Order: sequence, then C-alpha cells, then structure tokens
Amino acid sequence: MARKKISIIGSGNVGSTCAHWLAQKELADIVLLDILDGLAAGKALDLYEASPIGHFDVNFIGTGDYQHTVGSDLVIITSGLPRKPGMSRDDLLKKNTEIVVDVTRKLCRLSPDALLIVVCNPLDVMTFVVAEVSGFPQKRVMGMAGILDTARYRSFIAEALGVSVNDVAAMLLGGHGDDMVPLPRYTTVAGIPLAELMDQRKIEAIVERTRQGGGEIVNLMKTASAYYAPAAAAAEMAEAIIKDKKRVLPCCAWCDQEYGVGGAYVGVPIVLGAAGVEKIIELQLTPQEKHLFENSVSHVKQLVNQVKTFISS
Ligand code: LAC
Repeated sequence: MARKKISIIGSGNVGSTCAHWLAQKELADIVLLDILDGLAAGKALDLYEASPIGHFDVNFIGTGDYQHTVGSDLVIITSGLPRKPGMSRDDLLKKNTEIVVDVTRKLCRLSPDALLIVVCNPLDVMTFVVAEVSGFPQKRVMGMAGILDTARYRSFIAEALGVSVNDVAAMLLGGHGDDMVPLPRYTTVAGIPLAELMDQRKIEAIVERTRQGGGEIVNLMKTASAYYAPAAAAAEMAEAIIKDKKRVLPCCAWCDQEYGVGGAYVGVPIVLGAAGVEKIIELQLTPQEKHLFENSVSHVKQLVNQVKTFISS
C-alpha cells in the first residue's frame, strides 16, 4: 500500500516541530511548505538527516511550491503570525485571515479529498475561514486547540498533585481564547473525580492558569508563542485520523444543533477517525458551565462576523 501523505503549510516553529513529531510516529511521508522555500527545504533535509538516528522511515519534501502537496491525505495549516507579548489571539485576525484564505485556495484544489487541521490563530475563526474557502464538508475541516488546552490543564493538575501526567484525563469546551471552558466535573485522576483530590480554590486557580496558558508562554519567550505542545497536539489529531483510531478528543468542530450552538466552529468533544469529525459528543452541562460555554461561543461568533467582511471583499 502506498504511504499516506501529510502536508504541513508553514515551516515555522509549529510546522517544523509538528513534522518532527509526525516523523517519529511514521504516519506518512511529509511535505513541509513555506513561502520561504529555503527554510522549508532546509528543515526537511535536516529532519531527513536525523532519521537514521531517530529510526524513522519517512520521506520529506521541503518546498515553496504547492504542486508538491498534490494528493495529500491530510493537510495541517500552521501559517500565520504568532502573537507578541501584550497581544491577544484576536489581534491577529485580519492579517492571518488574509494568509489563511490564500493558503486554503492554493491547497484545496490540489488535494480535494484531504482532511484539514487548522492550527493558526484566532483558532476557531481561522477554522471557519478554511471551511468556508475550501468548501469541503465540515466534518473534514477541524481545528487544533482543545488537546493543547487540556494538555496544559492536565499537566498543571499532575504537577499540583504530584502524580503522573498519564493519569490525568480531562475535557474542555469552547473557543481557544481566554474564555475557554475547562470542565473540572469531567476531569479524573485514574478514574477518581478531581474534586475528591483537590479543593475548589486550587481547581479554580488551575483553570485560570490554563485559560492564560498561551499568554504565559508568550510572556516568557517574548519573540515567539508556544510550539512544542501545539505541534504535539496537532500530531495527535493526525495520528487519530491516519490510524482511524476513533479517539475521543476536544477539537474545534462545526456545531449546528449540537449544544444549541446554531452554526459555528468551537471546541467540543468529538470522535476523531479517518472520516474526520465522526461524532460530536454532547455532555450534560450545569447552568454555570452552559453559561460559560455560551459566552465563549458568542465571542467566536462576533469575530466570525468580522472576518466574513474580509472574506467577501
Ligand atoms: C497557544 C497559542 C499558540 O495557546 O494559541 O499557545
């Protein structure tokens, strides 16, 4: 059987780190594309030269030419500007919409059957833009955010309890913004509800740190935003798709009737497999959780209304 093909658009920190995680999983041959074609070519060659040491049999192409992406099974879109200290993800809206519209137009006609994972910010809005511009079925277009956000949340919980990160399982709803909704009621440590192990004040502090988790890294690094965890999260989605694993993961997916969203891309628990978003799992929410989720959705919808004017102009 021919190998699968994954193209990564954007060879900056997130794109190239994602290529590295994907190569280690030997999921597919990898095309790294960047407008700086030498950057993509250099990183692809460097990764290939690491392969005898890392023991991965993967072919890499680094390029600036979209023709190399033809027939991709999966495309991961990381292009766009990262934020700087003091910026919110929303401040990237106009510039990143321009970039993402251009990238999507170029890639979708060459890989009409691909699944698309969006990683650029503001995440939920850029996922909407990619779905709109590609015209692909909504279940084949999704955004990476919930896995990253729950990974931060799980790691903070593990650290606070002095337990393995492997034993913390969690779920989260809403947009990838400071109003995201981690769900302590659906968080367990080896099956034990979190509330039995940690007091409410500590849980709230961890939820708040999670909401600010992206900004915490930007403030430390100053000239870049996070990339190891975002790239690992995108690679986990890619693995679920390529291996048809039916993973239950928080991802940005199109919701219409679900949760009463009424048509928007937002973070929800999904079953992720070869067909993309195979199912959206609807959790029973308390009035408080529902209120927080609705706030987050309405924030995403406001931004989507702004981008609709850029896309149509
Ligand atoms: C973050 C950015 C990448 O959360 O959205 O780190």
